[in-house]
Amino acid sequence: MQGYNGSTIKEPPMTAPGTVYGVGLGPGDPDLMSVKAARLVRTAGVVAYFCKAGSRSNARGIAAGLLAPGAVEIGMEYPVTTEIAVADPAYNAALRGFYETCVARLLEHAEGGRDVIVLCEGDPFLYGSFMHLYTRLREHVPVVVVPGIPGMSGCWTATGQPITWGDDVLTVLPGTLDEQTLTDRMGRADAIVVMKLGRNLPKVRRAMAAAGLLDRALYVERGTMAGETVMRLADKPDDSAPYFSMVLVPGEGRRP
Ligand SMILES: C[S@@+](CC[C@H](N)C(=O)[O-])C[C@H]1O[C@@H](n2cnc3c(N)ncnc32)[C@H](O)[C@@H]1O
Repeated sequence: MQGYNGSTIKEPPMTAPGTVYGVGLGPGDPDLMSVKAARLVRTAGVVAYFCKAGSRSNARGIAAGLLAPGAVEIGMEYPVTTEIAVADPAYNAALRGFYETCVARLLEHAEGGRDVIVLCEGDPFLYGSFMHLYTRLREHVPVVVVPGIPGMSGCWTATGQPITWGDDVLTVLPGTLDEQTLTDRMGRADAIVVMKLGRNLPKVRRAMAAAGLLDRALYVERGTMAGETVMRLADKPDDSAPYFSMVLVPGEGRRP
């Protein structure tokens, strides 16, 4: 570059931005992580993960045995989880601000030339929080998504029953839907996965019963993780369900 009197002005060195990787870690058992995910986690200098305030991150737990000593860790604590109703505009506003702050924290590293590995439970593009960072980050730095085995795959394997046969249509429902919608969708499905159970379990149980499916429904808690539990939903004596739990109805399609 030329100065005003023809002298040469040295440009400051340009740092190539680092890449942000959204890495799917699979359903819980670290052995179910892909080779690519394991390689990225092992060599990561900067690692980020979501967590509930005051709780440990499940994704970090899956990756714990692989993290390099000295890796910089960025814990992204949700400002709200269930304290504000999802329909309340305050919920969206709080989360929007939160995701923007997370993006700024990750960009500080990526724009400084450092790769950032975001640890994601299951698959990043299946009801994951990472996608809210992904849409914002990719305007600024390279972003790569590494798929993972979704939690539901770990859960139907834990039941020992194939989920879809022949022409079965698999319906995946968030338990957060209203009861009537759940009942209608269940009534039209061949095979079902209901995610995001938690406090929605009583509603999901009523919807299953109304759709005539309670006898076929299976409850899975912490699929492929320590403490994995599988039982018929009809046999579950209480209405408490942890965050990592789901209900499945295996299909009954064509079997030659
Ligand atoms: C926000 S979604 C994230 C899903 C994740 N991205 C995936 O691919 O499975 C979280 C929900 O997934 C379900 N889930 C994920 N992994 C699970 C597991 N190992 N056992 C039971 N439920 C699981 C639960 O219903 C939980 O409430």
